[in-house]
Amino acid sequence: MDWLKEFEEYKSKIGDRTTLYGLVAKKYNIKSALYPGSHIDISPSMVILDVTYVDNFKGAIKFFEEISEIEKYVNSNKEYKEMCNIDFLGTDYNNEISIDKVDMIISQYAGFVGQATKRYLKDDGILLCNDSHGDATLAYLDEDYILVAVIDQHNEISTNQLEKYFVFKNGRQIDKNKVQSTMKGPKYETQANNYIFKLKSRIQYFKPST
Ligand SMILES: C[S@@+](CC[C@H](N)C(=O)[O-])C[C@H]1O[C@@H](n2cnc3c(N)ncnc32)[C@H](O)[C@@H]1O
Repeated sequence: MDWLKEFEEYKSKIGDRTTLYGLVAKKYNIKSALYPGSHIDISPSMVILDVTYVDNFKGAIKFFEEISEIEKYVNSNKEYKEMCNIDFLGTDYNNEISIDKVDMIISQYAGFVGQATKRYLKDDGILLCNDSHGDATLAYLDEDYILVAVIDQHNEISTNQLEKYFVFKNGRQIDKNKVQSTMKGPKYETQANNYIFKLKSRIQYFKPST
């Protein structure tokens, strides 16, 4: 049961994110998720049926060796009816991953996850990310994504005045190269704890010419 102790200790360090993931899953009807750079944050499985975790850190790989015990624990604590489905890949998330496309990608303090793994997102799927490493900024600058909501420290999801995010006090432009090289989210005038982007549908409708 060392893995459970480790998870409980981790949760007390990072805070329990079950409420956050649960609210997002409910609002966007999320049934499947990919969590690259998850470390041992298995709380998405409490509220989402089908989650694939990816992390290449040896501590995370060791933790997930107990996957059948983890599944038993999740099945006794989850907030949905069906049996959970948990997968773990102990690899670099930049590598090709063999999975079906998911409803949501989770990006928390683990680099440019939204860029590296957006090909695994369904059309209209969502990226839940923070800007700790600049992943939200890169999504904001990425034409494939559109900002649809923000989440504050009280886990309130808001779609109001989204134009005020990713704006500097002095009106200067975002320096994408700097974000990529420093892996740090810039300090904007208004910031949220988390951002929700939607992947724009890849289907293009062309008006036939007359
Ligand atoms: C700071 S921890 C954050 C863990 C978790 N997302 C959280 O918020 O509690 C970053 C994790 O991302 C993983 N990571 C970073 N880059 C990665 C990559 N390219 N492939 C797989 N895992 C990666 C690290 O191994 C580490 O476990």
